[in-house]
Amino acid sequence: MITIAQLIEEGTKKLTSAGIDEPDVHSELILAFVLNQSRPYLRAFNQNLVGDKEEKLFNTILEEKLKGRPLAHIIGSCEFMGRIYNVSPTVLIPRPETEELISESLKQLKMRLPNTILDLCTGSGCVAISLAFLFHHAQVSAVDISPEALDTALTNARNLNVAKRINFIKSDLFENIDKSFDFIISNPPYIASDVIETLSPEVRCEPRLALDGGKDGLAIIKRISKEAPNHLNPNGLLALEIGCAQAPKVVKFFKADTWQTPQVVKDFAGIERFIFVRKK
Ligand SMILES: C[S@@+](CC[C@H](N)C(=O)[O-])C[C@H]1O[C@@H](n2cnc3c(N)ncnc32)[C@H](O)[C@@H]1O
Repeated sequence: MITIAQLIEEGTKKLTSAGIDEPDVHSELILAFVLNQSRPYLRAFNQNLVGDKEEKLFNTILEEKLKGRPLAHIIGSCEFMGRIYNVSPTVLIPRPETEELISESLKQLKMRLPNTILDLCTGSGCVAISLAFLFHHAQVSAVDISPEALDTALTNARNLNVAKRINFIKSDLFENIDKSFDFIISNPPYIASDVIETLSPEVRCEPRLALDGGKDGLAIIKRISKEAPNHLNPNGLLALEIGCAQAPKVVKFFKADTWQTPQVVKDFAGIERFIFVRKK
């Protein structure tokens, strides 16, 4: 039999030789999933022995990971803001930057709590669901153009007991939306079409619809900036996640006759990643 520490080390070595990012983190995450324990538990009890069945499952998952499949797709779930979400190849795997989008939004909203919230491009539903937990009294709507994504989002909302609080709507952005909101948030597709093929195999496992922002990556963001004023209440806040180096172009979409001055906020990596802008 092998200890937790030895198995993690073995996994890390194999992942390193295959050029997988963050090999130690992935090796720990796989074993944490197999043993149904947290990563701190693995570190605290790293001399405990791992059973044969668990070691076999660890190696099976590791083999899939070595082929370049995202771990979330292999195990069918991932964590976002401390909650577990189902994911499948039809939705984007929620990213840490989007957790930052939410925490930065809280700072921007300050004491003006929104009563009505729209999550555009909801995917797994992680943003809408997190906001439903944060704003207990708000009515939350969540939109996606993909019926498969909406199915996953609804399943996640049911699993987390907030399905009754969120109105899931199939819509091409605002097409089927007839209301106005205090707060609109979106992590839209923002990668330029011809860049997608150059991304890592893991990113290319994501649905194209979740990534593809058209020729310059800005097609959906531009549409949101044009259509959002019809669906935001006066002084309502729009929060957007954007791609690297897009900020200078994106701020120009928000004209001074309709919008207050946009604010660009950097993510933990120092990249200009979020735009916050209030309607006049
Ligand atoms: C980058 S993913 C974001 C998913 C999720 N909000 C997150 O942050 O993990 C973008 C999502 O937008 C959806 N989408 C793409 N084009 C759309 C459109 N025109 N209208 C509505 N949703 C769209 C995709 O299906 C995908 O689920």
